[in-house]
Amino acid sequence: MKISVIGTGYVGLVTGTCLSEIGYQVICLDIDEEKITRLKEGIIPIYEPQLKELVIKNQEAGRLSFTTSYAEAINDSAVVFIAVGTPAREDGHADLSYVFQAAESIAQEMKDYKVIVDKSTVPVGTGEKVKSIIQKHYSGSFDVVSCPEFLREGSAIEDFMKPDRIVVGAQSTKAVDIMFDIFKPIETEKISTNLASAELIKYASNAFLATKISFINEISNICDLVGANVGEVAYGMGLDQRIGSSFLRAGVGYGGSCFPKDVSALKQMAGHNGYDFKLLKAVIEVNNDQRAVVIKKAKEALKSLKGKNIGILGLAFKDNTDDVRESAAIDIINLLQKEKAQITAYDPIATKNAEKLISGIEFSDSAYAACHDKDLVIIATEWPDFKELDWEKIKDKMRNPCVVDGRNLLDQNKMREIGFQYLSIGR
Ligand SMILES: NC(=O)c1ccc[n+]([C@@H]2O[C@H](COP(=O)([O-])OP(=O)(O)OC[C@H]3O[C@@H](n4cnc5c(N)ncnc54)[C@H](O)[C@@H]3O)[C@@H](O)[C@H]2O)c1
Repeated sequence: MKISVIGTGYVGLVTGTCLSEIGYQVICLDIDEEKITRLKEGIIPIYEPQLKELVIKNQEAGRLSFTTSYAEAINDSAVVFIAVGTPAREDGHADLSYVFQAAESIAQEMKDYKVIVDKSTVPVGTGEKVKSIIQKHYSGSFDVVSCPEFLREGSAIEDFMKPDRIVVGAQSTKAVDIMFDIFKPIETEKISTNLASAELIKYASNAFLATKISFINEISNICDLVGANVGEVAYGMGLDQRIGSSFLRAGVGYGGSCFPKDVSALKQMAGHNGYDFKLLKAVIEVNNDQRAVVIKKAKEALKSLKGKNIGILGLAFKDNTDDVRESAAIDIINLLQKEKAQITAYDPIATKNAEKLISGIEFSDSAYAACHDKDLVIIATEWPDFKELDWEKIKDKMRNPCVVDGRNLLDQNKMREIGFQYLSIGR
């Protein structure tokens, strides 16, 4: 079976590559010509563990190819995955223009039955709209399916190949059968739902995880007030199987290309349908406030931040990715700039992307250099490498040995033994 994937970002490239690894003939399309030229040369536009090796392997095996031509991509594909971006609009709604453009371009090339699969995260009703766009250009039979993606950047290949579940929202059993057949080699629970439920499962899942994060962050703020340790509290809570231990790590709040926009889109979608989703408003507010907790702690340590030299460790929104979209580190830098601090930042792989978003700071190519001669160092991303740094050496080179650990990454007793003034979140 030939499959095409529209959009070669984090989700599209991983989807296309993994489906080719499973054994399908896959053609990936993007409107970004430079991206496609580079992909054809085996140059991967994003950092994602294992991805480069798998792209090259499957390209060489003749199972994976790249194009900018919709005619070439759609012609003999039985199934077409749409995996283009759905960023947040100014008003918080999901911007569906890329999805609709892709649907329009697909429709213009349709000559026979195909399953059009929405893998992008889209509000309820988008599948129906995609269907009507296709019907404008093509009068034959086809199906539109929602198959939301749950992968996490940094472990995307693993997540795609071993997902917790596969959700297929469809209007015909023929489409469900085709989709279940595609994913047959992947052992996991596969559920079929109607289109609206599948679309909502994705938003509800992300919003729930974001709620867990905001919840534990509020607990961490209480911990600070009453002398409890949020690590111990979260561990004790997580042992309860009804709660579970994941997403109970207090810190600087969630970020990335999905949670912020998906929580906001679900809130907007609810409002649009006449429902006031009060809980999500609070989740967003808590998350925004959590960035400021780091600044408050920095001020606790240094009084004024004006003119102070501050090192930032981490720019990516999480470890193991070069994605800086909605990164807490960037928000923290913006807040520090308002306080007129002098900033030097380091990230193992996300610097190039961060340079496009922030100016007026220095970027360093080593963690040690970023900490050298600083009044304060802030840990903004949970890169495991930062745990392995020689903190004794860093302490000797700092002007004032003070660390605000926004990710609760380091051992607080050890840091204090070394001689740091060490502040973290809720402990
Ligand atoms: N990144 C994640 O971790 C993740 C996880 C799950 C779901 N999602 C969802 O998947 C979707 C894609 O996210 P992403 O992070 O991969 O996006 P991305 O921004 O990394 O990539 C989107 C790609 O689509 C291309 N594109 C835009 N319009 C196009 C068109 N008309 N035709 C062909 N290509 C087009 C862009 O050039 C870009 O390469 C979003 O809806 C997102 O919410 C993302």
